[in-house]
Amino acid sequence: MPDSSSVSFPPDFLWGSATSSYQIEGAVREDGRTPSIWDTFSHTPGKTHNGEHGDVAVDHYHRYRDDVALMADLGLNTYRFSVAWPRVQPTGRGPAVQKGLDFYRRLVDELLDKGIAPAVTLYHWDLPQELEDAGGWPARETAYRFAEYAAIVGEALGDRVERWITLNEPWCSAFLGYSSGVHAPGRTDGELALRAAHTLNLAHGLGASALRSVMPARNTVAVALNSHVVRTVSDDPRDLAAAQRIDDLANGIFHGPMLHGAYPETLFPATASVTDWSFVEEGDLKLIHQPLDALGLNYYTPALVGHAGTAPQDGPASDAHGTGDFSPWPGAEDVVFHQTPGEQTAMGWTVDATGLYDLLMRYHREAPGLPLYITENGAAYDDQVDEDGQVRDQERVSYLHSHLSTVRRAMADGADVRGYYLWSLLDNFEWAYGYSKRFGMVHVDYETQKRTPKASALWYSKAARSGTLAE
Ligand code: NOJ
Repeated sequence: MPDSSSVSFPPDFLWGSATSSYQIEGAVREDGRTPSIWDTFSHTPGKTHNGEHGDVAVDHYHRYRDDVALMADLGLNTYRFSVAWPRVQPTGRGPAVQKGLDFYRRLVDELLDKGIAPAVTLYHWDLPQELEDAGGWPARETAYRFAEYAAIVGEALGDRVERWITLNEPWCSAFLGYSSGVHAPGRTDGELALRAAHTLNLAHGLGASALRSVMPARNTVAVALNSHVVRTVSDDPRDLAAAQRIDDLANGIFHGPMLHGAYPETLFPATASVTDWSFVEEGDLKLIHQPLDALGLNYYTPALVGHAGTAPQDGPASDAHGTGDFSPWPGAEDVVFHQTPGEQTAMGWTVDATGLYDLLMRYHREAPGLPLYITENGAAYDDQVDEDGQVRDQERVSYLHSHLSTVRRAMADGADVRGYYLWSLLDNFEWAYGYSKRFGMVHVDYETQKRTPKASALWYSKAARSGTLAE
């Protein structure tokens, strides 16, 4: 590995940050927006930390100009944000609300004006509540609704936005939303989660074609997956089999159909006690398997798994994905998640950049020739504003340094990585954790909405401007 002082990136490498609508926008009742499943869930007692919700969040809906100016000051050249479906198509059906679309038009204009390339995610978890009431992601119809919505947004912004992402982390939507229930809509039924995974796959495929049918051909279409880096606790065949099942349920279930047009063979027998998969209709895999221009990967930490039968009685089962006591894994309830060794972030997630290397090299092999983007990477820490007004988040700087060096190493070893989006631009609403976990490179005082770039933002800004990582 090269000396870290000499880590430099190609001049056309994209340096960005990422956010999502419900986590930052607020203004949940403005300009025709209706409730999403996250409005309902976060206002249901006991679902989020201290009952916190996104009603105001970091007020980005009103402060977007300042936030774009902040990105420009930091020298970022790309920004990944998501469009709130219930702002654009409040009932999940029918014509668009122009005021909702206008917000994103203004945001895009502002970004382009500052030389920041927008990357739009169509779905980052805020399903219109009306669609959930009609069956939500387990219902096939939701995929067709998504395609209609994709066409609306593609038509409105496709002339000025080149980079498109259909879904963000469909694993979370399906399994945390419908199996463990720690995310909206909070249902706990393994079969529903598997059905939801299939509808999400279908939504991705139908959405990708809908986008292409309304947009200039130069635009690119991708998906952002949180493919898990699954490591096995030992070579015991029971542990290896456990890891295979998790890999199928976390990864192959999405990248199989999307990249190769097939579900992993091993997925069906492993989930036979939960479903017979008869909801997969003839022709579905063809619809899902659309050509992609890039693959987005979100990475935070690796998972270390084994079989319950091989774990010590008092074995340290871990909660690597914030899933609490509930297992999100239908048909794999006998799999144990072990704590990976090493230092941890405020989420309890182990800092391990080698997982990012393994992830990039896996998709370099799995999808040869497909450009890769890190669509999310970052860390939560308990940041404090010092008396002099500075936020000295040295741990985040180290996290970013080790992960970006690793990206560069994977590139040197052949992975075609085109860009990096730090999660997140701002501290924001961290789903079930409410505002208790801060992922931002910019600190937000939730009382005053004051933004303060942390030391990590200044470090990242230097990297973005110079294309080189400083110590
Ligand atoms: C993944 C999600 O896409 C994002 O919304 C979330 O805040 C981060 N990971 C951190 O958990």
